[in-house]
Amino acid sequence: MKFILLGLLFFVYDAEAQVNIIPQPASVIMLKTMGYFSLNPATKIVLEGSGMDNSVSFFNDYLKQFYGFTLQTTSKANGNNNIFLNYERLDDSIPGAYHLAVDKKGVHIEGDNETGVFYGIQTLIQLLPLPSDTKTLSIPDVQIEDRPRFAYRGLMLDVGRHFMPVSFVKRFIDYLALHKMNYFHWHLTEDQGWRIEIKKYPLLTQVGAWRSGTVIGKRPWKGSDNQRYGGFYTQDQIRDVVAYASARYITIIPEIEMPGHGSAAIAAYPWLSCFPDEKTNIPDSILSDDGKKANGKIVYEKWGVAEDVFCAGKDSVFQFLQDVIDEVVLLFPSKYIHVGGDECPKTNWKRCPLCQKRIHDLGLKDEHELQSYFIQRMEKYINSKGKTLIGWDEILEGGLAPNAVVMSWRGEKGGIEAAKQQHTVIMTPTTYVYFDYGQSRHDDSLTIGGFIPLEKVYKYEPIPAELPVDDGRYILGGQANIWTEYMPWPSKVEYMMFPRVTALSEVLWSPKSARNWDDFQQRLPFELKRYDLWGTHYFHDWAKP
Ligand code: ACM
Ligand code: ZN
Repeated sequence: MKFILLGLLFFVYDAEAQVNIIPQPASVIMLKTMGYFSLNPATKIVLEGSGMDNSVSFFNDYLKQFYGFTLQTTSKANGNNNIFLNYERLDDSIPGAYHLAVDKKGVHIEGDNETGVFYGIQTLIQLLPLPSDTKTLSIPDVQIEDRPRFAYRGLMLDVGRHFMPVSFVKRFIDYLALHKMNYFHWHLTEDQGWRIEIKKYPLLTQVGAWRSGTVIGKRPWKGSDNQRYGGFYTQDQIRDVVAYASARYITIIPEIEMPGHGSAAIAAYPWLSCFPDEKTNIPDSILSDDGKKANGKIVYEKWGVAEDVFCAGKDSVFQFLQDVIDEVVLLFPSKYIHVGGDECPKTNWKRCPLCQKRIHDLGLKDEHELQSYFIQRMEKYINSKGKTLIGWDEILEGGLAPNAVVMSWRGEKGGIEAAKQQHTVIMTPTTYVYFDYGQSRHDDSLTIGGFIPLEKVYKYEPIPAELPVDDGRYILGGQANIWTEYMPWPSKVEYMMFPRVTALSEVLWSPKSARNWDDFQQRLPFELKRYDLWGTHYFHDWAKP
């Protein structure tokens, strides 16, 4: 430990008014000395250990972009102008703790492993003044001790409804890092588009990544825009994004939806459906011209849930999904693989002879048990690859797969039920963290509806009060979901996520006792200035939504 010990000479006083760190650290102490460290282009980064290159690169990239210079690294301090980085294997149960101390001679960051150093750097970034004419950056004397509250601090981005370019996906990952979040749930397949290249099934992207039009407006739909729309990520691009995230201590969880939300895959390979010869069911009044001409299946052009789902009666469907998983696990080092499992209409299964035969042969009670069979069969396969399955809370219906992690989205009850069954849970309830819902009362832009203002996000508590105290440990953390039906481009995604991500980051990182809405509102305006610096779009009227 390299803390500068302070005598009783100085009074310690409340820090909040002086620094604006989000998420709020576990402890911030400022000294009445009112001293500063002056960071300038001659400042050296002293590496007291190895493995901190990611932190140095991130910091130098940030300095370069916004202040126009970078710092050199060295293994030995010289003079009184240094930033010391080191780590110790404290092995806190949740990775990421760090200490940060500033005095006029230097900055000391000590992390619990490299991850902690990286979060210390994120805090240092928030101690920098906004850019001005000078290249001397004054950082106030401060002592911070910090550690994450939850192990899972996530954001989900839906690139199925609207495709987001790699450049934005990387920017999104940077936003996660800057907020000390550590999971990016990448929703890669949808009814309206399949976005991940699978070498064994090229039509998934040749056909499934493109739709001939998109419905206009909200229900009742106002017709089709008739624009061919789509995009996908090559496996090379995915590897590049995974490496980018990993250098920011962010795990990417890929989601491959099954058995529902598979209509784009079915357009590519109609035999995945119970009824390969039936046309995709979209009314003519909202169908694109090319859609009207098509004889068979098409990629879905409207919002909502398609009834054409993967057939649970054909072994070939499971073989297909296993083949897809084979390629997915080679691309994503994550121990978690998300298989969706939500919103699977049972209409086709009810009239499909093969699905009904499966129900009969296995002695299942109904189509819900068939869905459970589907997920459990895929879980066995995913477990055989050394991975853990995550599903939306519908996977509780008909019996939970033995090792599954549950994402509770239809409120908190699925999460409560799963935790009581001693399953790991990630909380993502529509009631608090659906960032596709409006954040204004006044319908300031076209959204899917709902109203989740900043304060509501801030006041979210991921461990449900109803849960028996002992079961709270099954709550791994939480995540906000960004469904993109009404977010056709990155600036709209940013507008919907900010500043709500700021509130979420504090919910997931800061100690519960440090959470204070009044105090957060004091710190937020400075954070918004950082957004301005970054060129980030955000909702301005958060105080009077
Ligand atoms: C979901 O919002 N359908 C998980
Ligand atoms: Zn079937």
